[in-house]
Amino acid sequence: MLTETLSATIDEPAVTLENFRLADEDLPEFRDMKFEDINQLDLDHPGASDEEYRERRDHIADLARRFRETGEITDVDYTPREQRVWRYVAEELAEMHEKHASPFYLKAKRDLGITTERIPQLTEMNRRLKELTGFRLAPIEGLVETRAFLSWLSYRVMLSTQYIRHHSRPDYTPEPDVVHESIGHIPMFTNPNFADFSQFIGHGARVATDKQLEELGRLYWFTVEFGMIENEGEIKAYGAGLLSSFGELEHAFSDDVERRPFDLEQVVNTSYDYSDMQPVLYVVPSYSYLKEVTRKYIESF
Ligand SMILES: [Fe+2]
Repeated sequence: MLTETLSATIDEPAVTLENFRLADEDLPEFRDMKFEDINQLDLDHPGASDEEYRERRDHIADLARRFRETGEITDVDYTPREQRVWRYVAEELAEMHEKHASPFYLKAKRDLGITTERIPQLTEMNRRLKELTGFRLAPIEGLVETRAFLSWLSYRVMLSTQYIRHHSRPDYTPEPDVVHESIGHIPMFTNPNFADFSQFIGHGARVATDKQLEELGRLYWFTVEFGMIENEGEIKAYGAGLLSSFGELEHAFSDDVERRPFDLEQVVNTSYDYSDMQPVLYVVPSYSYLKEVTRKYIESF
């Protein structure tokens, strides 16, 4: 029988707040992904006036577009220069991670086989994620709008860019790149609670009103991007925006930042400025706590 739920539409199956892993054949067709306004290279991007870089970025973006047609991920044949950018950034960050990253994250990087030596491919990380939490990565050619991006998390799918930042500024990127995705985001998807929490956000995005979507964006920002966690009396970082940026990571642990206990109500009502360093960050007591408060919150939608 057809049931009507708050989320049911002709095209979309009903959403329940359970965690499920979809079998390959039950995933929505990637070719049906419709995105408007996929972010192209901004004028203030360090590579904006480098013709060779632009061509390279366009080529890698094409591979992501091809994936949407075929459903098959093409490994990127990274150039020696791209590998050098990776090695530099990954080594610098690895040192900072030893001091500031959540112990779970440190273990996860090892579990996923992410090393400072070379850029990891989405296909190899997908093989491990499938075994561990059933999460998967799908290539995307740029920054997509919030609802579409978050909604894919409801299928335990994260859209990931594959190109790398410009070599003139290895410490900086104005857009997500393979460093931000692989060093920042992907390791945390090996955590069952974090994977479930991400899926709940995805469920929420699919049924949210515009106002709720804005709140979800803030929750995502202060957790997935800039989250901190308490670990044996110490504060550690697990957010991708922190773990993939020297500047943000250093800043997050400085006296310029107020680190507050996580309060969902407060977080979803706190606006942020993505172009500036964060003055306030939120510390969760555990990933299971984060998962459960998020579940209750999404259930209220
Ligand atoms: Fe991110």
